Amino acid sequence: MPAPNKPENTDSTQSRNDRAAWFQGASSECSDAPHPSGLPWRLVLLGAPGVGKGTQAYLLNQRLKACHLSTGDLFRAASKLDDCDRSPAMQTAMDHMRRGELVPDSTVWEMVRERSACIRCGGGFVLDGFPRTLGQAESLKQLMQSEKISLSAVVNYELPLAEIVSRLSGRRTCEKCKAVYHITSQPPKFEGVCDRCDGRLFQREDDRPESITVRMETYERSTAPLIDFYKAQDKLLPIVATGTPDEICVRTISALVARVGLMAAV
Ligand code: AP5
Repeated sequence: MPAPNKPENTDSTQSRNDRAAWFQGASSECSDAPHPSGLPWRLVLLGAPGVGKGTQAYLLNQRLKACHLSTGDLFRAASKLDDCDRSPAMQTAMDHMRRGELVPDSTVWEMVRERSACIRCGGGFVLDGFPRTLGQAESLKQLMQSEKISLSAVVNYELPLAEIVSRLSGRRTCEKCKAVYHITSQPPKFEGVCDRCDGRLFQREDDRPESITVRMETYERSTAPLIDFYKAQDKLLPIVATGTPDEICVRTISALVARVGLMAAV
């Protein structure tokens, strides 16, 4: 018998939706919003830059149906707008991002709050890159409390630094659908072209060595404290991020299912 309150759909493979509500804001509707038959999964992915959060968020979306919500993707999409369509706050955000620094909490929260329908969405979510500071985590907690919903778990991916740097320096991203590749471990079928949508692959500006160093220091200072924050709330699920993306995804889902079963038993 399934455990009470256990989110379902851990084994079906579905394509991810277009995330229109996330990318274009509250007035847009996703073309194929996920409809899980059980309770939705509401997950936060934590881990250092380059550990593989985006890669896992894509796979978790396919298997759990919960929508992949990345603040990094949101900022990168805004950076493609014409200068005249970009607010001064967004221009400042782009400058921070380029240097590998965090975007100010107020700007991040303004964008997430405008998209609170994505947090409430009955399809659930996999948050990738948010929250990233204690202030953002508190804001998310308050929003979720006011909506009477809670996180299923916070998955913390762990990997040695040398492996992380190698993952970052070989990363390529699709400018159209945001799919992520690696020049040696996950190459596209044709060099420079996305397998999924034929979009052009590019190397992120913040994957330059000097920006990577800043991002790692920023992670240690501002984001690593979230591990204790979520541990204290009994939400933390540490996952070793070695192996292939599929192996890590299977490991994650097994740990999530075991955790939910355990929570239901207490
Ligand atoms: P963001 O886009 O969130 O970047 P990040 O957290 O630095 O994480 P990355 O996207 O670099 O890595 P990832 O863990 O997703 O790894 P990936 O799956 O791509 O943020 C960028 C910037 O935006 C921030 O620096 C900040 O300025 C700003 N920002 C965003 N959110 C913010 C917030 N909330 N507050 C303030 N500022 C914010 O994988 C990396 C590579 O490894 C890929 O090439 C992939 O193919 C490869 N790979 C993945 N898994 C494996 C595997 N198992 N084996 C081998 N290779 C693998």
